[in-house]
Amino acid sequence: MSTPDLFASPTPAPVPPASVIERIAALRAELDLHAHRYYVLDEPSIPDAEYDRLFKELQALEAAYPELLTPDSPTQRVGGKPLAQFASVRHRIPMLSIRTETDTEATGAQNFDLRVRKELALSDSSPPVEYVAELKFDGLAMSLRYENGILVQAATRGDGEVGEDVTQNIRTIRQIPLRLPADAPPVLEVRGEVYMRRDEFEALNERQREKIAQGAKGEKTFVNPRNAAAGGVRQLDPAIAAQRRLSFFAYGVGEITPPGEGGPAFDTHFELLMTLKKWGFPVAAQTRLAQGATELIAFHQTIGQQRDQLPYDIDGVVYKVNSLALQRRMGFVSREPRWAVAHKYPAQEQLTTVQAIDIQVGRTGKLTPVAKLAPVFVGGVTVTNATLHNEDEARRKDVRVGDTVIVRRAGDVIPEVVSVRLDKRVPGAPQFSMPRQCPVCGSAAVREEGEADYRCTGGLFCAAQRKEAILHYAHKRAVEVEGLGDKLVEQLVDTGVIRTLPDLYRLGFTALASLDRMAEKSANNLIEALEKSRHTTLPRFVFGLGIRHVGEATAKALARHFGQLDAIMDATEEQLLEVADVGPIVAKSIRTFFDQPHNREVVEQLRACGVTWEEGAPAVVAPRPLSGKTFVITGTLPGLSRDEAKDRIEAAGGKVAGSVSKKTDYVVAGAEAGSKLVKAEALGVAVIDEAALLALLAAAPG
Ligand code: IVH
Repeated sequence: MSTPDLFASPTPAPVPPASVIERIAALRAELDLHAHRYYVLDEPSIPDAEYDRLFKELQALEAAYPELLTPDSPTQRVGGKPLAQFASVRHRIPMLSIRTETDTEATGAQNFDLRVRKELALSDSSPPVEYVAELKFDGLAMSLRYENGILVQAATRGDGEVGEDVTQNIRTIRQIPLRLPADAPPVLEVRGEVYMRRDEFEALNERQREKIAQGAKGEKTFVNPRNAAAGGVRQLDPAIAAQRRLSFFAYGVGEITPPGEGGPAFDTHFELLMTLKKWGFPVAAQTRLAQGATELIAFHQTIGQQRDQLPYDIDGVVYKVNSLALQRRMGFVSREPRWAVAHKYPAQEQLTTVQAIDIQVGRTGKLTPVAKLAPVFVGGVTVTNATLHNEDEARRKDVRVGDTVIVRRAGDVIPEVVSVRLDKRVPGAPQFSMPRQCPVCGSAAVREEGEADYRCTGGLFCAAQRKEAILHYAHKRAVEVEGLGDKLVEQLVDTGVIRTLPDLYRLGFTALASLDRMAEKSANNLIEALEKSRHTTLPRFVFGLGIRHVGEATAKALARHFGQLDAIMDATEEQLLEVADVGPIVAKSIRTFFDQPHNREVVEQLRACGVTWEEGAPAVVAPRPLSGKTFVITGTLPGLSRDEAKDRIEAAGGKVAGSVSKKTDYVVAGAEAGSKLVKAEALGVAVIDEAALLALLAAAPG
């Protein structure tokens, strides 16, 4: 017979020293405290890096002494394995629902107060009933069970009697304490709402749209934050649930140790909520005591005005009789307490019809399909437009002109078509397809592989992109028009003083000086700057055209390779591909750009306005001394500005990068070089000064 000892680990686990046990306890308490400040109170108290350091220290200690690992440790939020299915949980105290007052006007609150007073047999002369006014969160109800201060189970509402055990997923919600302070009762069920914030919802859908654009199978976008939250809670894999970034608000209790057995004695619902808050649960800051119908009405109105600014959806407010003794006296009708009511707000989703599908062109040329709707009152405003995001989204939802659709508008988020009521479709309605031409300027609209959006290729000509195109052209690394910034471009275009890029060079002093806030001196300065910009270089001009995918380096490579603008404009895709740095996507983009007659015309007009540069013969494609070498410039060089050094390195075939890595060949260090120099030394990258750089460049022809 073998003795179990034979199989025991040859090196018994070290007995944890008291100091380690203490340190682990201290770290957990400190991490819990900071997490509570960060996630619940929204008052971060230490830098993230410091939190991470404490967290790692705790992880290291728990790895060294696994016997000290407990499920309530802050390191244990995500860790459970995917489940095959959820277990059922019978609620010891059923999870009720509340009666809903659908009258969204003030009378909704009055009706409830009248019913309560009647129920309690109060006369007209007796004082107002005290209520607690709360928000009605639009998420899903959850019951959190704590035994001896430890979260042991989280269950969904289900049918109110039996729900599902979703503990693993709920543990990933940072706002939910895994452990309670010592004064919490031995048994405590906290009831509340799991929800998703609107910004998290938007971010999640944006990620989903990207996945779909890249061809991911089985992915979809979510209809609203409630559905996304419910989907997150019902994930079998807690790692996925963790990515959903859910939140929680507490609004009541289920089973709780009675006062006779050492539990807390509350007299009011408000006291109970404040105690939950003290124990670490998020309780909405808007929660108020309200005296009688008047104050309920005021609450409904105030919250109604704040609704759009809240970071999450609410579909109404909830009123509850504050006194627990009165609550007991009133009891229930069917599954609803007589002492509570939900008072709604106008719905954030409504039905309407699609009258047309228009295409909007953004500042950067992005085309967005927008459904024009029969006016509909949603989330408190009248909506006539709803975004369809992009071609894939519009197709996936299959929105067609004439369709009846559900529109959603919540907060200041752009209204959105959520889904189509296919049962109401008019037979024969044609499927939507994106136009292949920009509706603003008529240039070709193209969608590149792996991208979700169509873009207008008439960058220089398109009215929608005017401001962006002018700003880009005037940028200091492009054709540089000193002093022509955001505000001025905005003003020039909005007042109609300039319509196209060449108009810049036709600007007269009078037109300029007539602009708001434009002093005579600034007008003169701008005219001077424009004059100066007429003498530019080919690479700056090519970069300044704002061709998609043609950055500064590509513009330089094109100028060097072709020598002349006409050669670039007329090059075939094959010829463009011969340029170092130019791949198929870039070649195609350049070709498409110059295929737009409007773009060519703008170029001609700029030339006619006197914009000139030196043209050369195509460069000899001989290997240059710095080709293939990567440089990083740091600190102040004695003779060259950074831009000059960069230009000269690139002219000699080298590349200039922003940060030091193992791939860096040389770090050019000047005075007061900082961390990049340290990193270069650590990686063993050659460090040279300006003199050595000039020596390397001297070996380069030209
Ligand atoms: S109290 C005994 N308070 O609305 C009353 N519910 O049908 C139990 N809800 O499923 C609910 N905010 O998920 C209560 N402040 C709030 C609430 C709230 C949202 C949800 C809850 C419940 C439904 C009521």
